[in-house]
Amino acid sequence: MNRVKDHVLHALESKRGTPVSGAALAEKLSVSRNAIWKAIRVLQEEGYEIDSCKQGYVLAEKNNILSAQSIDAYLAEEIKGRIRGEVYQELDSTNRLAKQYAMDGKEEGILVVAERQTAGRGRMGRSFYSPSETGLYLSLLLRPKLSMDLSLHLTTAAAVAACEAVEEVTGKKAQIKWVNDIFCDGKKVCGILTEASVNIENQNLDYAILGIGFNIWEPKEGFPEEIRDIAGAVLSKEDADTDGRIRSRICAEFVSRFLKYYDHLEEKTYLPSYRSRSFLLGMDVYALDQPEIHGIAREIDEDCRLVIELESGERKAFSWGEVRIRPNE
Ligand code: BTN
Repeated sequence: MNRVKDHVLHALESKRGTPVSGAALAEKLSVSRNAIWKAIRVLQEEGYEIDSCKQGYVLAEKNNILSAQSIDAYLAEEIKGRIRGEVYQELDSTNRLAKQYAMDGKEEGILVVAERQTAGRGRMGRSFYSPSETGLYLSLLLRPKLSMDLSLHLTTAAAVAACEAVEEVTGKKAQIKWVNDIFCDGKKVCGILTEASVNIENQNLDYAILGIGFNIWEPKEGFPEEIRDIAGAVLSKEDADTDGRIRSRICAEFVSRFLKYYDHLEEKTYLPSYRSRSFLLGMDVYALDQPEIHGIAREIDEDCRLVIELESGERKAFSWGEVRIRPNE
């Protein structure tokens, strides 16, 4: 039954808004039309808006349910075989589960997605607010053949892929606040947390978990008080009902674009795009953990480090950490 249901959903997702013939599906899957009808009923009970008409079954455009099939439908053809999506209604953290998979020896390419997270992890030990329906939370298990000193590029390439995915699907302009916060309209709409394990003998990465969280729409109850000033969403609440594929498309675009950079990471082909999106350049900034270090952010160097020109004229390059814009005195 599940096999039939999964295939039916895949067919409906690939043809959103247009009818898929029940007879053709039955023939393709070598099952009865009744089996197809039963699978449709189960999907409807799960919340899928599927109408039947003379030509077959139609999945509504505005259906906003994330599934492995909805994501797969939008993955670039050449990477489809490399990604195995798992979608959960609720997880503590997609990074936590993906890390567990990595430690269990599972292969690269598992994509863990959750509708909501109860203990979403952020950078620097913070939490990541992850309510349902309005966000997208995913972790990709990678086994890069990469030395530890190049690991920063996983995160920075992901930042570019995230901006491109947002722009492609929504038309909104996305910018990067070094290292890997994505901003739209002056608010943070997406954060990236990469967790990795290093093989001490050869200093290569054993695995890396690329975790990324998007605020696609503002949560119905708004953002919690403590992040309200900084957090934003890619789209306004009004856009919520029109196109239910947005999260699946952003997820698939992100993964497809990231893997293209990932396959040639050492060539750093994403760097020009990273630089042109970096909105800190030219601004007066300070290092969050060392406020005495401040100056003008001058460039993103070849290693994707942020170069700050201090008052003394000395240039200091940062390869990790967090910087803030200094308020005008
Ligand atoms: C940050 O901005 O501090 C990074 C936030 C990263 C959040 C994502 S959501 C999916 C993945 N799972 C987690 O627990 N965290 C990352």
